[in-house]
Amino acid sequence: MTLESVPDRYAVIGNPIEHSKSPQVHALFAQQTGQAMHYERLLAPIDGFAESVHEFIAQGGRGANVTVPFKLEAFALAQELTPRAQAAGAVNTLSFSVDGIQGDNTDGVGLVRDITRNAGVPIKNRSVLLLGAGGAARGVILPLIEENIAGLVIANRTQPRAMELAQQFSYSGVPVSSAAFEQLDQCFDVIINATSASLDSALPPLPDCVFGPETLAYDMMYAAQPTIFMQHAARQGAKVRDGLGMLIEQAAESFFIWRSVRPETASVYQWLRDQL
Ligand code: ATR
Repeated sequence: MTLESVPDRYAVIGNPIEHSKSPQVHALFAQQTGQAMHYERLLAPIDGFAESVHEFIAQGGRGANVTVPFKLEAFALAQELTPRAQAAGAVNTLSFSVDGIQGDNTDGVGLVRDITRNAGVPIKNRSVLLLGAGGAARGVILPLIEENIAGLVIANRTQPRAMELAQQFSYSGVPVSSAAFEQLDQCFDVIINATSASLDSALPPLPDCVFGPETLAYDMMYAAQPTIFMQHAARQGAKVRDGLGMLIEQAAESFFIWRSVRPETASVYQWLRDQL
């Protein structure tokens, strides 16, 4: 192998990491766009994230995705942050160059693209309800606001967390407010479940009135079967979608950051759906 033909190295770093689908997704993107790159799984010790990143850079790594539980540490490690990473307070995409470590967050743009392009649901001037106030919720707020939605309500089990988050985005020009689940008294165009409740087969206690026949109920989780949140929303007559498309779109955005090439995502989505 000549030096020129050595593929550029990328990785997804997390703990645990065996379950990650990112290597398959990026391998398909690379194949499709003819990019010479290798993308691997990297298990970092719980107390050794920064060391693992520096080791990977020393071995020639060009970039990395970061997953649970290291997105906050990646934020702290990055020497340069994009506005959307700053707003998210977390980093899922690192790029390594002579200028240092750049951090970005592609989760929110991945969600927005999946809703607006793949699901074909416009969100400009639409009302959005965001369920949850943890890292997953925070990561998608700025990209939603940038689509000029009509307003955002953040609802969370622990209400002070939702209030704090709404406060952080109060400068944005789009009305952002918070509410307890049981206080909600209007129908929303889009409802995004960013809680981890589906993992425990639990359902945020939402009043039925939040769902209408035109509502898109989106769960950021995905599984072979519709999540409990999707099942509930469908029973209320809403349209439903899981987070598989968001996974693919956030990966495509990372790929674009690294390679300046935008991969086609529909075939990769279908391929992954068939694997579930
Ligand atoms: P993540 O990074 O996935 O967002 P997190 O920061 O731990 O993880 O946040 C998990 C979110 O899911 C929180 O909004 C949490 O609500 P609390 O702030 O009240 O803890 C929410 N959540 C988890 N289990 C839930 C449940 N059974 N019902 C409703 N909300 C739940």
